[in-house]
Amino acid sequence: MTRRRQNRQADAGADFNGKTILVTGGTGSFGHQLTQVILDRFRPHKLIIFSRDELKQSEMQRQFHDPCLRYFLGDVRDLDRLRRAMHGVDVVAHAAALKQVPACEYNPFEAVKTNILGAQHVIDAAIDCGVKKVMAISTDKAVNPVNLYGATKLCAEKMFVQGNAYAGLGGTKFACCRYGNVVGSRGSVIPLFLEQRVNGTVTVTDKRMTRFWITLEQGVEFVIRCLSVMRGGEIFVPKIPSMRIMDLVETVAPKCRVTLTGIRPGEKVHEVLLSEDEAHQAVECEDMYVIQPLYATWTAKTTWPGGQPLPDGFRFASDTNGRWLSVPELRRLVEPHAHARGSTARSQRFSPGKPRVSVSG
Ligand SMILES: NC(=O)c1ccc[n+]([C@@H]2O[C@H](COP(=O)([O-])OP(=O)(O)OC[C@H]3O[C@@H](n4cnc5c(N)ncnc54)[C@H](OP(=O)(O)O)[C@@H]3O)[C@@H](O)[C@H]2O)c1
Repeated sequence: MTRRRQNRQADAGADFNGKTILVTGGTGSFGHQLTQVILDRFRPHKLIIFSRDELKQSEMQRQFHDPCLRYFLGDVRDLDRLRRAMHGVDVVAHAAALKQVPACEYNPFEAVKTNILGAQHVIDAAIDCGVKKVMAISTDKAVNPVNLYGATKLCAEKMFVQGNAYAGLGGTKFACCRYGNVVGSRGSVIPLFLEQRVNGTVTVTDKRMTRFWITLEQGVEFVIRCLSVMRGGEIFVPKIPSMRIMDLVETVAPKCRVTLTGIRPGEKVHEVLLSEDEAHQAVECEDMYVIQPLYATWTAKTTWPGGQPLPDGFRFASDTNGRWLSVPELRRLVEPHAHARGSTARSQRFSPGKPRVSVSG
């Protein structure tokens, strides 16, 4: 199916026209892109950006001028504020999170408050305010987590699935979209490599490393589409490609020296988007997997339409993925981010060349 046809279908189902939409974490990478797409393609009644930092909100206000936009300062840790903000809201995209793995490891109570308690507050407020649909944005790090960030997102997923039972028949519907690393998002490896390559050396923790990759545009389209088809309790997993970290180095910093720094606490060599244990309750569709809720007391519909059961032992992992990004494909994905970074990065052309590897310390 072509991207345009998929978008048209998503638009028909999502139908944000005349609706009030609230995006927690609306000033982040995801929130910016979702705002852009909604304003380009729909005529919402209101689009509410909910986040803590007034500076990010005022910068966003300078970028987007549509009169439907509202900027609410608030913290997902504050249930009363969320209840006030969700008054009259039809759809919520829950993107607010602490997402830096080392920061969450070092400040575990903060990660729990924002990512777990915050998720509970979003669920409670949405039910209390009669919101129709809520979609949480999750990550491959929630699968068999080895770091606190992933563990908090796993808890949030579980709470969102079971949130449907709290809402009851005919109540608010909750679901999750789970995907891998977003190309070029704030704090990700591309901005890091672009910064490091200026000095001729980039750092890699482990050269065997592979990751799932999705663009911000694809992530947002996926969420819009899943919002249109969700029935409540699903975890939607897109079929996305993998990349090898050394291919990325070859793309971004081809002539640079590579220093191997060793795997960080809480880091995996490969990521998993769908585990063997989850595969029992998942089905395969054309371009995604749908993990269905185990105890869906809130709906009479038990199987996902058109979905095929997965074979025993199936797992969707970044190292055994059937689809890999080649260096030229990576180059096409990375180039816009290099251009966005100003003259220093721009002055270095993307030219082919094998990286030199030296092991540090
Ligand atoms: N980026 C990725 O590679 C990736 C991959 C898979 C899934 N995800 C998930 O996608 C979601 C969005 O990620 P992103 O890349 O857009 O993150 P981001 O750019 O870091 O944005 C995070 C947003 O959350 C807000 N926020 C943080 N703590 C908050 C709180 N306590 N209350 C209210 N707002 C809060 C931030 O604004 P303030 O600081 O002003 O509050 C910001 O608007 C996250 O849930 C993340 O786990 C991301």
